[in-house]
Amino acid sequence: MRKKIVAGNWKMNLDYNEGLSLFSEIANMVKDEVTGQQQAVICSPFIHLHSLVQLAKGYDKIAVGAQNAHQNESGAYTGEVSAKMIRSTGAAYVILGHSERRQYFGEDNQLLAAKTDTVLKNGLKPIFCIGETLDEREAEQHFDVIKTQLQEGLFHLSTEEFGQVVLAYEPVWAIGTGKTATAEQAQEIHAFIREQIANQYNQQVADDTTILYGGSANPKNAPELFAQPDIDGGLIGGASLKSRDFLDIVKVFN
Ligand code: PGA
Repeated sequence: MRKKIVAGNWKMNLDYNEGLSLFSEIANMVKDEVTGQQQAVICSPFIHLHSLVQLAKGYDKIAVGAQNAHQNESGAYTGEVSAKMIRSTGAAYVILGHSERRQYFGEDNQLLAAKTDTVLKNGLKPIFCIGETLDEREAEQHFDVIKTQLQEGLFHLSTEEFGQVVLAYEPVWAIGTGKTATAEQAQEIHAFIREQIANQYNQQVADDTTILYGGSANPKNAPELFAQPDIDGGLIGGASLKSRDFLDIVKVFN
């Protein structure tokens, strides 16, 4: 059975001490309150990673991830952080292709394919984000956009490599806007994604792939979203900065 995951994306929030204290709070709540097999993941800024991994030791239901990694192994790329460096902190996941990276940093599917390769080579699991903009949805191009993002970003992977990937469907119009996709809209795309995976690989691979929903998810709407057959958890922005809200979302799978 595929894994249920609720991942928090802190984005560019929380200084070092604030991050450590929020993570400690979350880790303790996970320990006390999570009774199911789901995993909580916190994707923090790079500066927190090593310390969060230390705090997470001894807790099996919480893991740590980064929010980006460079496509090259090392070299003269001032200001960048490599997948190997991330792995050396003990972090397990890396978000790739978040719409903010695509929009503000010009990351396209080709670059993301290269980043995915490097991340996998270094033993990290990508949380690979896909999703359409509002214009694309209004023009009824959302299925095509998703299909292209999958084909160009991920479908060069071998079956074994693809098995390491977590997907996140994040309609861009729902991110940070308070406008969540309805459970039906999200389920429709998640089922479509799973169908594309089955076509490219096989049904077993498709059935084993964890597909998260992201975009204004909160404790109120998460139960209905996570009850959909093809939604295996969430990628949570705003609500992951509040320990109570984040935990209540994680606990939907209890
Ligand atoms: P949001 O962000 O939950 O604040 O909408 C989700 C994301 O960007 O991953």
